[in-house]
Amino acid sequence: MRNFRQTTQIILWITFINLLTSCFNDSNEVIKPGIIPEPLSQQINEGSFLLDRNTSIIFDKEFSQIAEFTKAFIENGSKIKLSVNKTAKTISFIKDEVLQGEEAYQLLVKPKGIIIKAKNSRGAFYGFQSLRQLLPATFENATFKNNAVSIQNIEIKDAPRFKYRGMHLDVGRHFFSVDFIKKYIDLMAMLKMNTFHWHLTEDQGWRIEIKKYPKLNEIAAYRKETLIGHYSDQPHQFDGKKYGGFYTQEEVKDIVKYASDRQVTVIPEIEMPGHSQAALSAYPHLGCTEKPIDVATKWGVFDDIYCTKESTFKFLEDVLDEVMALFPGKYIHIGGDEAPKTRWKTCKNCQHVIKREGLKDEHELQSYFIERMEKYINSKGKQIIGWDEILEGGLAPNATVMSWRGISGAVTAAKQHHDVILTPGSHCYFDHYQSTKESEPTAIGGFLPLEKVYSFNPIPDELTKDEAKYVLGAQGNVWTEYMKTPEHVEYMAFPRMVALSEVVWSDAKNKDYDNFKLRLENYFNRLDAKNVNYANHLSEVSGKINFDNGQYNVSLKGSNSKVIKYTLDGSEPTINSKKYKTPIKITKNTTIKAASFNTSKKVSSIYKQIIDFHKAVGKNISLDVQPSKQYSGNGASSIINGIKGSNKRYGDKEWLGFAGKDFEVTIDLGKETKVESITTRFHNGRGNWIYAPSQVVVSFPGNDEFLPLEIEDSKENIVDLKLDTKVTTRYIKIKVVNYGIIPPGYAGAGNKAWTFIDEIIIE
Ligand code: ACM
Ligand code: ZN
Repeated sequence: MRNFRQTTQIILWITFINLLTSCFNDSNEVIKPGIIPEPLSQQINEGSFLLDRNTSIIFDKEFSQIAEFTKAFIENGSKIKLSVNKTAKTISFIKDEVLQGEEAYQLLVKPKGIIIKAKNSRGAFYGFQSLRQLLPATFENATFKNNAVSIQNIEIKDAPRFKYRGMHLDVGRHFFSVDFIKKYIDLMAMLKMNTFHWHLTEDQGWRIEIKKYPKLNEIAAYRKETLIGHYSDQPHQFDGKKYGGFYTQEEVKDIVKYASDRQVTVIPEIEMPGHSQAALSAYPHLGCTEKPIDVATKWGVFDDIYCTKESTFKFLEDVLDEVMALFPGKYIHIGGDEAPKTRWKTCKNCQHVIKREGLKDEHELQSYFIERMEKYINSKGKQIIGWDEILEGGLAPNATVMSWRGISGAVTAAKQHHDVILTPGSHCYFDHYQSTKESEPTAIGGFLPLEKVYSFNPIPDELTKDEAKYVLGAQGNVWTEYMKTPEHVEYMAFPRMVALSEVVWSDAKNKDYDNFKLRLENYFNRLDAKNVNYANHLSEVSGKINFDNGQYNVSLKGSNSKVIKYTLDGSEPTINSKKYKTPIKITKNTTIKAASFNTSKKVSSIYKQIIDFHKAVGKNISLDVQPSKQYSGNGASSIINGIKGSNKRYGDKEWLGFAGKDFEVTIDLGKETKVESITTRFHNGRGNWIYAPSQVVVSFPGNDEFLPLEIEDSKENIVDLKLDTKVTTRYIKIKVVNYGIIPPGYAGAGNKAWTFIDEIIIE
């Protein structure tokens, strides 16, 4: 009994103090926990911990740096000055050897104190990051004005799903300041991402100081001008302005230390044998032709790559000696992607090496190149990572593969018992468009909305449980051809990085996109406070076409917390427009306009969908060859659904993409129908290996008409085709003949072109 009464008195006393404190400041607005990435397990308990000047931080010695970090965050972010003497109320960092997992932690918030348990400093740091998200976002920019704050009682047990949780940044196409690199790393660390892949060398610029080869910084770090607009815009135009820069070795050390303090490992990428035109501009003798060449001024894949002669290996070993001394991590990324074999085929040095080493062809020569560099790097105690092209011609014995051209590289490598990291273009290329809004800034192409990033499963279905162990994790890639400024990088990376953090950290069983969106809305407050220019499409309206029992419907989706209002007469929706409840029935040409509204105003841009209710809409369509899995739209009917895809985002759900193949479309109109015109369109984005077909043949089974149409070699981004006819027919067949091999001098030269087809309009 006595014990009970004592406890009651203490609780009353605490409540009284809490009440008193809250009279002097309004600090008791407790943040509702919604931590990103979502912890493995968490239990929210009643009550809170009052963080104020009577709080002190205690820690096991190993965690002194994390404790300092925590103290600085609290004191810099608010008016709270923690007690320097040990108090009754503590935030304790405790070493716990028996926790499962190298990066695991536990965070316990109780009225009497906060405990963070971890096996090592990584776990302790992640404990702090979770605690940080239980504090108001105003701590992030030092605008929390009170001298106390209540923290929700909670019990978290957490550990990551994957050990490699990466973000990449290309500083070759555009160069970013040391301050911005630090901001990027800081934003990664908040999301418990642990690897920064720093893409330091490119055709368009060499960005790291190498003392032994000063021309890399005098010449290779600068290009004389830069392409204006999109690569597909013809003719190419340039800005005439010298552009460049590089990081000194002192700056690199500073960044590596900054990252290490945030438990982030930096992996430098030194590209070889391709994407090396900038290096060749400084040292032309490293190329096959040895002819002078400029740092590249436009984007793409270039024929001039390192020659396989001895002086190249000496150069690269010297470069790597300096690089390895700067980066203490285990991995060096050696690139290996997109290296055309054009020069090697006609180079007497390279052909000599092929003979000398008994190699079959230039692909084996690439393997020889990579294996030789791997041996050197391994001899210095480091491991290599390469893009999935390093599989071609045989994989270097200890290499880790970064799978970017889909997931097949990951499957092949894991089956050969090599470690893999997943960065497929379909889910991890944050340089693709993220919204269908026409006002989006110019991007390279493709379409990767937030929900698709969130849906990513880094373990390919093709792998057995044992093979899946070779999947280290996944990474988001930010290629910066079309990102000139830090603000633009932020726009493309956020919030997709936030979604990816949950893919690589959280338990896949708990994944729930709607729940994630709610937590993300709160996380935006934190990004606002940190002045991050993230993209916010959460309230945007999206539409989906459905055919149910011959009925054409459009269903609309927006944010759960907002309502959608719409019109069908082309007028702008207002708060007084019709509220969306059930799918909209379409029976004729219609323009849908819709937007999200809160109780007083419009909070999204206007969703606009023009539906051309032509004669093939809702009819049957079949294909003799299926489109590529990544570019299969919403099935074959996507090209007779009355909706045109975007001119820019060939990857959206209206386009069908075929990899190097001819195909035939058959449309069954259900009954004999008078046809007056057939219109269709092809994407012709040559930078992305996409070409309009060479020929299209239209025929009408049962009729004699047969209409071959030659297509002129066009430089336009979209090629439209219209055929006027006067035929009555039930069936229409359209045979599409692939462009063929991409000619020399263009991206993807030597490979078969892709064909992308959009709506076939029958009038
Ligand atoms: C790559 O995107 N070229 C790896
Ligand atoms: Zn050569």
